[in-house]
Amino acid sequence: VIKEKVQALLQKMTLEEKVGQMNQYNGFWDVTGPTPKEGNAKQKYDHLRKGLVGAVLNVKGNEDVRKLQEIVVKESRLGIPLLFGFDVIHGMKTVSPIPLAEAASWDLIAIQQSARVAATEASAMGINWTFAPMVDITRDARWGRCMEGAGEDPYLGSLIGVARVKGFQGDDLAANNTIAACAKHFAGYGFAEAGREYNAIELGTNTMYNVVFPPFKAVANADVKSFMNSFNTVNGIPATGNRFLQRDILKGAWQYKGFVVSDWGSAGEMVAHGFASDLKDAAMLAANAGSDMDMESYAYVTYLKELVEAGKVDMKVIDEAVGRILTVKYELGLFDDPYKYCNAAREKEMIYNPAHIAASLDMAKRSIVLLKNENNLLPLKKSQKNIVVIGALANDKNSPLGSWRLGSDDNTAVSVLEGLKGFTNNFKYAKGADVIVGKASFTEEVKINETDKSGFKEAIAMAKTAEVVVMVLGEHGFQSGEGRSRTQIGLPGVQQALLEEVYKVNKNIVLVLMNGRPLALPWSAANIPAIVEAWQLGSQTGNAVAQVLFGAYNPSGKLPMSFPRSVGQLPIYYNQLPTGRGAVKPDVFWSHYTDESNAPLYPFGFGLSYTTFDYSNLKVDASNPQQIKVIVTVKNTGTVAGEEVAQLYLNDPVASVARPIKELKGFKKFALEAGQSTNIEFTLTNNELGFYNNEGNFVVEPGAFNIMVGGSSNKGLTASFTIQ
Ligand code: IFM
Repeated sequence: VIKEKVQALLQKMTLEEKVGQMNQYNGFWDVTGPTPKEGNAKQKYDHLRKGLVGAVLNVKGNEDVRKLQEIVVKESRLGIPLLFGFDVIHGMKTVSPIPLAEAASWDLIAIQQSARVAATEASAMGINWTFAPMVDITRDARWGRCMEGAGEDPYLGSLIGVARVKGFQGDDLAANNTIAACAKHFAGYGFAEAGREYNAIELGTNTMYNVVFPPFKAVANADVKSFMNSFNTVNGIPATGNRFLQRDILKGAWQYKGFVVSDWGSAGEMVAHGFASDLKDAAMLAANAGSDMDMESYAYVTYLKELVEAGKVDMKVIDEAVGRILTVKYELGLFDDPYKYCNAAREKEMIYNPAHIAASLDMAKRSIVLLKNENNLLPLKKSQKNIVVIGALANDKNSPLGSWRLGSDDNTAVSVLEGLKGFTNNFKYAKGADVIVGKASFTEEVKINETDKSGFKEAIAMAKTAEVVVMVLGEHGFQSGEGRSRTQIGLPGVQQALLEEVYKVNKNIVLVLMNGRPLALPWSAANIPAIVEAWQLGSQTGNAVAQVLFGAYNPSGKLPMSFPRSVGQLPIYYNQLPTGRGAVKPDVFWSHYTDESNAPLYPFGFGLSYTTFDYSNLKVDASNPQQIKVIVTVKNTGTVAGEEVAQLYLNDPVASVARPIKELKGFKKFALEAGQSTNIEFTLTNNELGFYNNEGNFVVEPGAFNIMVGGSSNKGLTASFTIQ
């Protein structure tokens, strides 16, 4: 039915109106104020009235959304409702942990629920389309946007991407609390050379098909309603003008039915890339390559009509693109009720709804990773006297919200100090050292405090007599995110010096890390007895951290990205290809660094608990090669209940294209009481055994396979099997 409606509407539309649907404008103007009389904002209003805008972004709130929707619905000739896009990346008003942190939970149900909450709040504020999930695989912690994805692994990343899409889009896209999702950035953005933002990307076939594509393919299969292409070039061709990616792969091989939006200005940037001669050329190249909607380049709205009239862009290209966009609008139910997301009472009820805050706390706890806990320094006891808390981030209500939380209110996170007060008043606080100088925002460069050590004296004096020192250190919330690449990924500014000075007077330190990317902290790993990776956990950060520190919640997170020992190891990832000289040798002629180990500081999949888990009885039944069963027994051998993530890694030792030394192909998260054991079962099918060869074909090659099952990528029980 929708197909017929779309066709009927297309018949009524002029070429100009069709091009209008392919145009998206940013709306950072005062929507509720008087209509602008001149300049860019006036032009945008004129275009809304003429039906020359298909979508806007960054307009939020039911009042503003209604105002713009009324303009197009009532004043444009055909009254086709607008899409309202927004970066709902990790929550709207109620902020959930940054996506990388959520990925550390390995908890697909909680992640789906987190996206559901975000969609509920966003839709109550008029939004019907989020630019999430980002499913770019990230192997280089220098890149600031690691925070926005699910880390380094395509298997985990695919499942998390699908969970997020399901959460945003729900079971019924036409409901008023579900929104269209957008898989971004197609493709390769996470492989920016040297981790430098917007940099060129060279991607070989093997990595492209087996690492970069899988999460995109998974969410395409899960019916994500839109894709966003990317700022970068891939093998010399900008993603926005890339026919291979958009026409051959996405809309061709994958038969994708949704629409593709460009990234902000990325059509226009093809001129700077040296690919298009001017904006008109860019419009032609992008449209012909399959980029259906132009975000803020003004390329389509300015040139597409004349390009069609000149025969440079086929009318079929336009009809196909507009058909895809209109289909999503119909599926959202916008033609039935363009104001379905504009309800003041619902907006009021949903924003900061107690159920959303509870979900954010639950997600935050599950995202925390315990990296070290020597001599069971943690959990702290409520009776513990004289706890000293040090670090500017402990008292910060803004940083824990992280980057890319455009819908949120500043300074609304529960700080760590506030969270601790829920458990004890037996603590004293010293700032010690600021992370940054001055205030930072999403659009401003963060200035790091490199010199001010004036708070050291007080912090050291207080630490001297403390039973335990909790140091909350790491990155400011805006130190990761778009445009935030770094070459040094240790503790920023004077924080490392502060940590070492405090350590001189008191070794009983619990280091609570807040960061948007893996950090390289070899000194801390060697010296500090307890380390808690607390990322940026959103609105409920302090409560979640306090619950973990005091053992009210037993941490269960596992790293979704390897933590390097040094920046020189980057890119670092567990699923590496073997080398011809991988074996350790006494001489120098093997694959290694002369000044650093090859191993990461903390590997992918690693994370401790306040209890311990023992793996035994690994058994493989390969009698049915279509359904290989793997069973392992896991026992909670400690004294408290806990949750574990059992991980299955596969290795294909001989193949027509060399395969990684190990690849995650299954995981299960489960809870066990102290002393309890359970059997965990995995099933391997062709999907897990096969791979894409260098012709881009998925193949399953018979022969021997090795598996490893355990609680981390670097350790586990092993077994082998053969398929004919
Ligand atoms: O969604 C984002 C994208 O990830 C980066 N550029 C801007 C877009 C819209 O805000």
